[in-house]
Amino acid sequence: MYAVCDRCGSSGCARLEGIATFPGSRGFFIGGYWGGRAYGGSRAGSVSRFSLLVTKYGTGTVPAYVKNFIEANSLHPTGMLRINELSADERAIFNTLKPERLPEHVAIIMDGNGRWAGHRSLKRFLGHQQGAKSVQLVTETASRIGLPWLTLYAFSLENNLRRPKAEVNFLMRLLKSYLENNVQRMNDNNVRIRYIGRVHELPREVQEKMQWAHEETARNTGTTLTLALNYGARSEMVDACRALAKEIREKHIAPERITEEDVHRHLYTAQMPDPDLLIRTSGEMRISNFLLWQIAYTEIYVTERLWPDFRGIHLLEAIADFQRRERRYGGLSDSVGEVEEEPEQIKIAAS
Ligand code: FPP
Repeated sequence: MYAVCDRCGSSGCARLEGIATFPGSRGFFIGGYWGGRAYGGSRAGSVSRFSLLVTKYGTGTVPAYVKNFIEANSLHPTGMLRINELSADERAIFNTLKPERLPEHVAIIMDGNGRWAGHRSLKRFLGHQQGAKSVQLVTETASRIGLPWLTLYAFSLENNLRRPKAEVNFLMRLLKSYLENNVQRMNDNNVRIRYIGRVHELPREVQEKMQWAHEETARNTGTTLTLALNYGARSEMVDACRALAKEIREKHIAPERITEEDVHRHLYTAQMPDPDLLIRTSGEMRISNFLLWQIAYTEIYVTERLWPDFRGIHLLEAIADFQRRERRYGGLSDSVGEVEEEPEQIKIAAS
């Protein structure tokens, strides 16, 4: 249930992690047990990675009340950190990160497969094929650092409608073979796979393979890899509105009682926290209809690197950049002191 901590250098430290969900609440709890004292706090959000640092006493066991706390709060362990499996370069960056400020959800707009192939005078489909390799390698780094949620924009509704049939067919075949060939590696890495989007519109044999991969990996407790397939954020909102309208009609709910939480409950991502970090490769400054509701307060990181060249080390670089940002959620920076005068006493200059 816990791994010996290879970050803090103390042989008596173990790190426990899990997801803490508090239904019906918009706050989440971060707690810990350190040096014999339990501590906790709360932040905005409804789901959180739960990191628990436990100082082991002589016997090296986790105190019973800590275990009870985890069980009582429906914590699902996200599995062990496997920092020793990072490459030396990755570990060098990881060691500069603040463990208490690791993102819990990273979303990626994977772009630039076509350009990658074009720069090499190759056919576009070879760019996609190379892009599928990046998917697996980045997922494995994410699982080694204990990232709970990784969401990848693999195939948009617009790709489905606007790309040549031959390219769409190739992407479908690539997805099927990716799942066939990588489920074992997902299991080895404790990764479970899920999907968001209008997946029921994909070819039946692709849906069957997706369902198979989902079931084969469903018991894994590490990173949840979510592939956005036949996905569009606007159509997600339309689907959410339809489901909410149905509920409102059935339960006779007055429109003014609808809350943000009600909308959230009907999104494809209802069980996930919002992304902390959104990465876009290949330098385009666009969101391209991806997770529009969910990225309201997400930090955005754009890199010129094309997706087929993107690796775990670049994920860690993006996380390091994310940790240098100050997230304010519309509030004020911590460095802003108390306002000295009452705002009512300040004259507003005529404009
Ligand atoms: C953008 O490249 C990327 C896509 C259209 C989809 C992403 C697909 C993959 C990474 C490969 C398959 C994924 C899985 C999960 C098997 P682009 O063609 O738009 O590149 P361009 O802008 O350079 O033309």
